[in-house]
Amino acid sequence: MDYVIEMQHITKIFPGIIANDDITLQLKKGEIHALLGENGAGKSTLMSVLFGLYEPDGGKILVRGQETVIANPNDANRLGIGMVHQHFKLVDVFTTLENIVLGVETTHLGVLKMDEARKKVMKLSEQYGLAIDPDAKICDISVGMQQRVEILKMLYRDNDILIFDEPTAVLTPQEIEELMQIMKGLAAEGKSILFISHKLNEIKEVADRCSVLRKGKYIGTVDVADTTIEEMSEMMVGRKVMLQVEKGEMTPGDVVLDVQHLSVQVGEGHKKKVNDVSFQVRKGEITCIAGIDNNGQTELVLALAGIMPSTGTIKLNGEDISHQSIRYRNTHGVSHIPEDRHKHGLVLDFTLEQNLVLQSFFEPEYSNHGFLKFDKIREHAEKLIEQYDIRSGNGPTNIARAMSGGNQQKAILAREIDRKHDLLIAVQPTRGLDVGAIEFIHKQLVKERDSGKAVLLVSLELDEVMDVSDRILVLCEGEIVANVYPKDVTVQELGLYMSGSKREANV
Ligand SMILES: Nc1ncnc2c1ncn2[C@@H]1O[C@H](COP(=O)(O)OP(=O)(O)OP(=O)(O)O)[C@@H](O)[C@H]1O
Ligand SMILES: [Mg+2]
Repeated sequence: MDYVIEMQHITKIFPGIIANDDITLQLKKGEIHALLGENGAGKSTLMSVLFGLYEPDGGKILVRGQETVIANPNDANRLGIGMVHQHFKLVDVFTTLENIVLGVETTHLGVLKMDEARKKVMKLSEQYGLAIDPDAKICDISVGMQQRVEILKMLYRDNDILIFDEPTAVLTPQEIEELMQIMKGLAAEGKSILFISHKLNEIKEVADRCSVLRKGKYIGTVDVADTTIEEMSEMMVGRKVMLQVEKGEMTPGDVVLDVQHLSVQVGEGHKKKVNDVSFQVRKGEITCIAGIDNNGQTELVLALAGIMPSTGTIKLNGEDISHQSIRYRNTHGVSHIPEDRHKHGLVLDFTLEQNLVLQSFFEPEYSNHGFLKFDKIREHAEKLIEQYDIRSGNGPTNIARAMSGGNQQKAILAREIDRKHDLLIAVQPTRGLDVGAIEFIHKQLVKERDSGKAVLLVSLELDEVMDVSDRILVLCEGEIVANVYPKDVTVQELGLYMSGSKREANV
């Protein structure tokens, strides 16, 4: 059998942890090969070894049958290997076109030939249905488009072995469907794809084979067509997983969050991102903001958290907090699991234990006349690590940057749920988590509700919206177009509201 890539007995050791322990992975030409495993199982590490970012401590790599040393990403590129990273690696202040061409610019007599590059990029963009605005800056475009830029970057370099590290975690359902089609098209053309995802239905839809890792070890490879979703999740977690959310009736209480006529305008002369929105969130209720990405959810949440200016009033437990600082809101009952975990969730160069007290290190519990109580901070971290199963090599002292994506997310969740609060704003809280962890988080949200907290859940995933929420507010072009209950509405109807084809009369 010819394999385009054969990774044999790969071992990669980090301080305190064997991230890859004797892993063998074989990729056939033209196949879509899924890589499945819990958060921290070693998927990104294995792909980083293949892409030349990490040097393995053991094992070898054969590329098209030839044993090869891949010492850096340039080597990988020369071998036709491209990678879309779990957290994109684009230059924020450059345009999409500049990012795609970066590093392989063509020049003529020392002058950049951007015109040709532009032509090639736009041709690829059309050919593969990867719509981009070549002149927009990365910081101004949606994550969906950023991802298309990453894919175009690989295609621009004529890569034919493509690694996608959790490409769908940040995408909307519509974008996911598009990406699935794009991947199928690429594979049909003979490109070979390694695809990491926690979403078993996606693996079922596009992958030919699936290899499973668990805690750094290789568990096995299966043909996807012959394997059920339940079987795959059991291989991954080592036990049966509840894919459904169990919850009782809600008993809503007092209003915790009262939002009246809230508007957010970004940049002068632009359309309002949030337009005159009014709603309430009560104790004992999970209220969900549903909608297609980029319909104002981001701005609404940033306004509630005090990160973005807004007009209108925001009341918390009856008190007007519209003009209060982020810290004031943080210390007066608002917990926030942010959409962008790197920008607003963690300080990546701090340790895990420092990250777990980011908004509370100055409180008497952790500090005394300006001196930090390190033992208390450590104790706190150890408690949350245990409760939330946050996995990393060095426990409390692990640098956040060196944690797996899913475990970074678990750390934020743990901190925000553990903190004293009345309102929990959770934006895409299960993004990037494995099925076992999703089950756990959903249970936590229900527990929050049952213990009398108000929960505002923002989610792009309809399954999550329907399963977890008690009440759904649909946001479309910055306006609330529906206020419905999951039991009274179908997914199709919700889709109509989300796309703006339908609107409730009374909202
Ligand atoms: N640069 C690093 N330094 C130290 N430890 C690391 C580093 N990168 C990863 N690790 C550790 O190696 C283990 C595997 O991490 P990896 O990122 O490969 O997991 P993953 O399977 O991709 O998980 P996720 O689904 O959460 O993205 C984790 O325990 C992580 O903490
Ligand atoms: Mg990963």
